[in-house]
Amino acid sequence: MNTPMPHIAIISASVRTGRQSHRVALYFENFLVKQNLATVEVVDLNVYQFPIFTERLKYQPSPSPDVVDFAERIKKSEGVIIVTPEYNGGYPASIKNVIDLLYDEWHHKPIAIVTVSDGSFGGTQVITSLLFTLWKMHAWVVPAMFPVPRVDTSFTDAGHALDKTVDKRARPFIDELLWCIQARTKMSKQ
Ligand SMILES: Cc1cc2nc3c(=O)[nH]c(=O)nc-3n(C[C@H](O)[C@H](O)[C@H](O)COP(=O)(O)O)c2cc1C
Repeated sequence: MNTPMPHIAIISASVRTGRQSHRVALYFENFLVKQNLATVEVVDLNVYQFPIFTERLKYQPSPSPDVVDFAERIKKSEGVIIVTPEYNGGYPASIKNVIDLLYDEWHHKPIAIVTVSDGSFGGTQVITSLLFTLWKMHAWVVPAMFPVPRVDTSFTDAGHALDKTVDKRARPFIDELLWCIQARTKMSKQ
């Protein structure tokens, strides 16, 4: 029996002028669509230009349409990929801002983390801190890593990977996310 394609939201976390990790968000969007694995939307924090929130969405008396839109996109997605740069050994404030904004929307949500840097370690130091934060939010963090080193020379602006081994690494990473999405769907039906 064919299972319907899941819907995945790719959060592009960097709002930095001249950011490069967005290339990797575009790469995963293209990869998932080309391989016919999921329907996808890129949820670009740079487009929202959110302020630092002074309260969580559920306690905001009149949230802005953008905030409601962001929450809806996360809620309706069956899985999330967070593409985050590493800044000083951690994740940027932009992603913590939107994680803390929501609560129920993260509950049992399968989330795969992609870390990006222009150095040789691919932002791997972000993993433990972001994993712990998402765990605290009751998200279901997928047990797979996708570090991207030297993003400035390994991806084009349009998200094309210049190294052929990227696709080979991407497939098992995405398979892990898809497995968690399927498992969650089955559990929700019981
Ligand atoms: C404030 C700041 C701190 C950074 N800290 C690190 C770091 O700790 N390790 C690292 O490999 N790269 C670091 N970088 C470089 C990023 O890896 C680089 O900007 C990369 O392109 C990903 O971030 P971007 O999407 O904002 O471009 C830092 C960049 C900024 C702006």
